[in-house]
Amino acid sequence: MRLDKYLCDALGATRKEATKIIKSGDVTVNDVIQKSGSVKVTDNCVVEWQGREIQKPGPRYIMLFKPDGFVCSHEDGFNQTAFMLLDEVKMEDLHFAGRLDVDTTGLVLITDDGKWSHRITSPKHKCEKTYRVWLADPIGSDYAEKLAHGIELRNEKAPTLPAKLEIVDPQENELLLTITEGKYHQVKRMFAALGNKVEHLHRERIGQIELDENLEPGEYRFLTQEEIDSVWH
Ligand code: URA
Repeated sequence: MRLDKYLCDALGATRKEATKIIKSGDVTVNDVIQKSGSVKVTDNCVVEWQGREIQKPGPRYIMLFKPDGFVCSHEDGFNQTAFMLLDEVKMEDLHFAGRLDVDTTGLVLITDDGKWSHRITSPKHKCEKTYRVWLADPIGSDYAEKLAHGIELRNEKAPTLPAKLEIVDPQENELLLTITEGKYHQVKRMFAALGNKVEHLHRERIGQIELDENLEPGEYRFLTQEEIDSVWH
């Protein structure tokens, strides 16, 4: 593995940050200062930054800013897949901790740690997801109450769990919706049941993990240890 990639994976740094760290001359591989990110690091190497050993990368935890037009699957005969945006090894080990529709943008979490992703996706744990929603028609004055109460969706036995609505811009029909479930097309179906239509949907937050505002659509970074651990709290 390249040294810059090693640091990205191990520190949750972006490639740009890793390059800066390496260029600063504070990184050693087997006690030799290395100033190039392309230096190869093998399993037996000891990598240190400012005299502290950087542990070898373990399970991978990634946040991706999914752009419009990409599907959350490994293969698709028609659309591009979100995995095509990743430049990683062992892609077959990675999976999505909660998918987005092809036309939904924003935060997707990708990992090879099944227990971790289960914690996010299992209905039992009621992990919050916040979506920024733009509706076709004005936001009804009764929406907040109805969403908090639960909405009956077609082909679902139980009403939706309480959801929180926060109006952002009434002129633009823009709001934030926080839900704790992940039913198929859930947000679109909730607003359809209220007689409205979702024009655009963008996920901003999963649990305590927020989409990094430094990421552009299609970019990704590794999660920090704090973000990884937050899922268990
Ligand atoms: N709800 C939807 O309707 N679509 C998504 O992509 C995510 C939540």
